[in-house]
Amino acid sequence: MTSDKPTSDKPKHTTTDAGIPVTSDEHSLTIGPNGPILLNDHYLIEQMANFNRERIPERQPHAKGGGGFGRFEVTHDVSQYTKAAVFQPGTVTETLMRFSTVAGERGSPDTWRDPRGFSIKFYTTEGNFDMVGNNTPVFFVRDPMKFQHFIRSQKRRADTNLRDHDMQWDFWTLSPESAHQVAWLMGDRGIPKTWRHMNGYSSHTYMWINAEGERFWVKYHFKTDQGIDFLTQEEADKMAGTDADYHTRDLYHALKNGDHPSWTLKVQIMPFDEAKTYRYNPFDLTKVWPHADYPLIEVGKLMLDRNPTDYHTEIEQAAFEPNNMVPGTGLSPDKMLLARGFSYSDAHRARLGVNYRQIPVNSPKSPVHSYSKDGAMRMHNVTDPVYAPNSKGGPSADAERYPIDNTWEVSGDFVRTAYTLRRDDDDWGQAHTLVREVMDDAQRDRLVSNVIGHLSDGVTDPVLERAFEYWRNIDQEVGDRIAQGVKGG
Ligand code: HEM
Repeated sequence: MTSDKPTSDKPKHTTTDAGIPVTSDEHSLTIGPNGPILLNDHYLIEQMANFNRERIPERQPHAKGGGGFGRFEVTHDVSQYTKAAVFQPGTVTETLMRFSTVAGERGSPDTWRDPRGFSIKFYTTEGNFDMVGNNTPVFFVRDPMKFQHFIRSQKRRADTNLRDHDMQWDFWTLSPESAHQVAWLMGDRGIPKTWRHMNGYSSHTYMWINAEGERFWVKYHFKTDQGIDFLTQEEADKMAGTDADYHTRDLYHALKNGDHPSWTLKVQIMPFDEAKTYRYNPFDLTKVWPHADYPLIEVGKLMLDRNPTDYHTEIEQAAFEPNNMVPGTGLSPDKMLLARGFSYSDAHRARLGVNYRQIPVNSPKSPVHSYSKDGAMRMHNVTDPVYAPNSKGGPSADAERYPIDNTWEVSGDFVRTAYTLRRDDDDWGQAHTLVREVMDDAQRDRLVSNVIGHLSDGVTDPVLERAFEYWRNIDQEVGDRIAQGVKGG
């Protein structure tokens, strides 16, 4: 709201959107106290028209979420792996974060079982760097062709407009590559206690490039300094009914009360050439790199310390995009990641308009000298020359300072086929390790109970039989217990 610089003894008066003082906040313009309202009551019409246009399309997916602002500080020297300004020792960068559920709509409960989105925008000196991750290190599918189908299977049926566990397990059991992520989802990580009590992962493998032009493969792990904590299915179900915005509320109050949550960024680094022969396909999003092979290396601290003042402009209109890679960083041959490199900006153009990067929360803090011009809702004036090359003093690309160095070599025919399998690649192995070796007895018991509850809620044959088989493929004993629990229950 703009105002005539109010002082404490002179309260602000209401104006129209054009800044014109208005006479009443309560009464429309009518002919006599009981007469009809007038079409020339511009203020009434402005209020109605604005209200009718308040909602914008929600994100598809990750519609429900919340977030805040903070900063990232580099505490350890990783300059041997990347030249990115944001990762140089001592650098402090302003950040925006958004947490979300995947499948629910904008008003859906925060405590539904689902992966949680973990998005960060770093406003670096070399442009915006975005990390759009989840609270799990892997994902359900490894080919982007299946992503849209996967999300549809988690949302609502066409006929009943209801979510449907039969549809979810139908997709999962016909997509065995989902086993690892489904094992995470059905365990404690599927319902974090709060957004503060969960880790964030890039999940994908990205690239880092150092000042000498040497390339490395990197996975990002943001480890919560608050400790991992979770809600049981029972607690979450209850919370969904009593406080659907539980996680949003928790973060708001933590930031308001100065209880600033933080995460320690650690990375796994794989030398560029090792990717060629590693026992797992290092670009397969359904796999982790065991820490014994690639240990965690500390980089810095991410902290949130400020609430948004307007959720619509600062969180709902926030646009994160995995293609925002600054010099010293890059994508990788992960097919999912490459597809995401296109998908997000397309979604933003559809949801927010072509000039979405001029919305303040999405604007870089570093100067923009691009040749994009015009389009709906452009805020910043374009200056001549409006084309390149030109001899009129316009910006010109600097290949020497910013070489194209975040690439890799490929050759081959056009095909539609799965990744080539590596020695240890399969769909069940890492899921088995998670369930049998990483989880303790109590965690495994909760996993079994969660799956029994999920499968007992509307899943029918033949999907149900396939689900038992799916779990037996992950772990025979766990599968048997699940089958017994569902049939005997
Ligand atoms: C081919 C695979 C994928 C595609 C095509 C895809 C596409 C999308 C789209 C279109 C949105 C909505 C964006 C918006 O309107 O603002 C979205 C949101 C999101 N996606 Fe993905 N996604 C994919 C995989 C993933 C994976 C693997 C992760 C995590 C590692 C992920 C994390 C997120 C997050 C956190 C958001 C919410 C961003 C925010 O907070 O605004 N997505 N995705």
